[in-house]
Amino acid sequence: MDIINNFETVEVTTDLLILGGGMAACGAAFEAAHWAKQQNLKVTLVDKAAMERSGAVAMGLSAINEYLGLKDGTNTLEDYVRYVKNDLMGVVRDDLVANIARHVDSSVHLFEKWGLPIWKDEEGNYVREGRWQIMINGESYKTIVAEAAKNALAELGENGSYYERIFITSPLMKEGRCIGAVGFSLRENKFYIFRAKSVLATMGGAVHVFKPRSVGEGLGRSWYPPFNSGASAYFTIRAGAEMTCQEIRFVPVRFKDAYGPVGAWFLLFKSQATNALGEDYMEKRAGELKNWLPYGTAKPTPANLRNYLMMLEVEEGNHPIYMRTEKAIQKIVNEADDEKSAKRTLKKLENEAWEDFLDMTISQALLWASTNIKPEETPSEIAACEPYFIGSHSGGSGAWVSGPEDLAPDDYKWGYPNMTTVQGLFAAGDASGASSHKFSSGSFTEGRIAAKAAISFCVDHPDLPNIEQETIEKIKEQIFQPLEVFTQHKELTVDPDINPNYIKPRMFMFRLQKIMDEYAGGVSNAFKTSKPLLEKGLEFLQYMKEDSGKLAAADTHELMRCWENIHRLWQAESHIKTMLFREETRWPGYYFRSDFPKMEKNWKCFVNSRWNPETDEWEMTKKNIIDLVDLDEH
Ligand code: ADX
Repeated sequence: MDIINNFETVEVTTDLLILGGGMAACGAAFEAAHWAKQQNLKVTLVDKAAMERSGAVAMGLSAINEYLGLKDGTNTLEDYVRYVKNDLMGVVRDDLVANIARHVDSSVHLFEKWGLPIWKDEEGNYVREGRWQIMINGESYKTIVAEAAKNALAELGENGSYYERIFITSPLMKEGRCIGAVGFSLRENKFYIFRAKSVLATMGGAVHVFKPRSVGEGLGRSWYPPFNSGASAYFTIRAGAEMTCQEIRFVPVRFKDAYGPVGAWFLLFKSQATNALGEDYMEKRAGELKNWLPYGTAKPTPANLRNYLMMLEVEEGNHPIYMRTEKAIQKIVNEADDEKSAKRTLKKLENEAWEDFLDMTISQALLWASTNIKPEETPSEIAACEPYFIGSHSGGSGAWVSGPEDLAPDDYKWGYPNMTTVQGLFAAGDASGASSHKFSSGSFTEGRIAAKAAISFCVDHPDLPNIEQETIEKIKEQIFQPLEVFTQHKELTVDPDINPNYIKPRMFMFRLQKIMDEYAGGVSNAFKTSKPLLEKGLEFLQYMKEDSGKLAAADTHELMRCWENIHRLWQAESHIKTMLFREETRWPGYYFRSDFPKMEKNWKCFVNSRWNPETDEWEMTKKNIIDLVDLDEH
């Protein structure tokens, strides 16, 4: 291994190590700084990209999807928990959802204080998009929040620092405790060892595990940031943490091809979606919802069931499916008192429609422009996207974390809030599972909750376990191996991408996506799968694991791509294992088990999984759902 000698080993010691730079990480840095100052502790944040524009909110947002308005009595905490539970077909941790929800409003107020423009009505109240969502001018949302996080770290002086452009590959473990993380710089020849008393994983969800709809020219266009490549899942799984809801992928419905948001259209503008014949499929197929009680008839209809009714239309050949923007706009304009105010209303709606995309999905505005769409005249196609893994939106995958002291049932708590089942390892945002509907504000809030707990872990565990030099050298060799593989074999072929001795990460990713698409219920298979398909898929993933030793990288950027795809592979494996274990269809519209096409009472439970580092085997368990609020009151 000559190549690794080109990489200097840099060791950083800290107290709390925050991995990631998105909303949860920013919340964590902000909160940790407060408590660390009191305790004279160090806080170090490490981001794969640059915090100012990293994570799911990088491009901005047009709405904040979790704001309760608890102070003004608009909503109750119980109502929010019920809403989330219905939306996930009963499978959420009430304690975690409530813990975030009871603190989320104060985070939103901070965003406003830091300069985020929030829409206000004539009385000065926030403009609600829907019951739980508020409208913002959010192009610079992430920039504003990142600045606040950096300022908070700066307040710590020498005790606060952040590292950007460092890709974290794996956890650093000692005797079952997580004691740090390892990674490498994408700008300098440096290998990093971060040693810490507690570690918070907030590295986002996973995109491009499944074959995306956007391929070829459109590759890279996805609903969630393509840079979220499963680092949180890999990190927590490899640390030996118990995971939950790894079967709950999220399939958003979006404006077709550029993935523009639909929330403002459905909720703010009260738009309908229809099939190509102009029929409102939610009305036409309302009867189907009775097959999925009690959730099917809840208001709003759970996201997966909304998807499912649309998919039934597609299956019958009644697509394209359209968002009837022109009808929605016309309806609002028709309510105006006179012609002048109708004109003014139309102009305002046109502006709002374009801004909705420009705030968060600029390419959708470009697609509208390039395909001659005028939302006030032309309907727009919508479609179900490929599956994503996220704990923050309407998915549920992530680490199984300890609940809040005052709310969590005994079975759901074993120590510090948001600590995984691994000592010293915490998770928040997309990294923690079974607490859906956090979105941007809730992820930031959960980062705060987790960081506060992680700081108290540091206080209670002041020792900083040592790590042997030999172990460090072994990890370093493993991380840089793809560079070595490339150097050894690159001369054999003219085209560096094609070589009998190695596989480049791009091809490796395509292979993974094809397997997941065809065997694990991707777009090409109409989101359907079954035991024989899943078992075949798992077999192919095993071959991929074997082949991962042959990954090759020409430079450190490609080295990152190699590791991203190893991360994706583990996310994929845990997904298939969990879908296989759950013998029912609980989330039609996300995935459909054709061999178990119904929802079953005995599967109203969490499925937790754990990869055992000692045996290299997966352990699957059912966990009880302990309801803190009653759905029947809905
Ligand atoms: S975003 O993350 O890209 O902004 P999206 O546009 O889907 O999400 O939705 C924004 C919010 O509206 C989310 O809280 C989502 O659950 C909710 N939402 C979207 N469509 C509907 C609908 N038809 N009915 C009820 N809630 C909806």
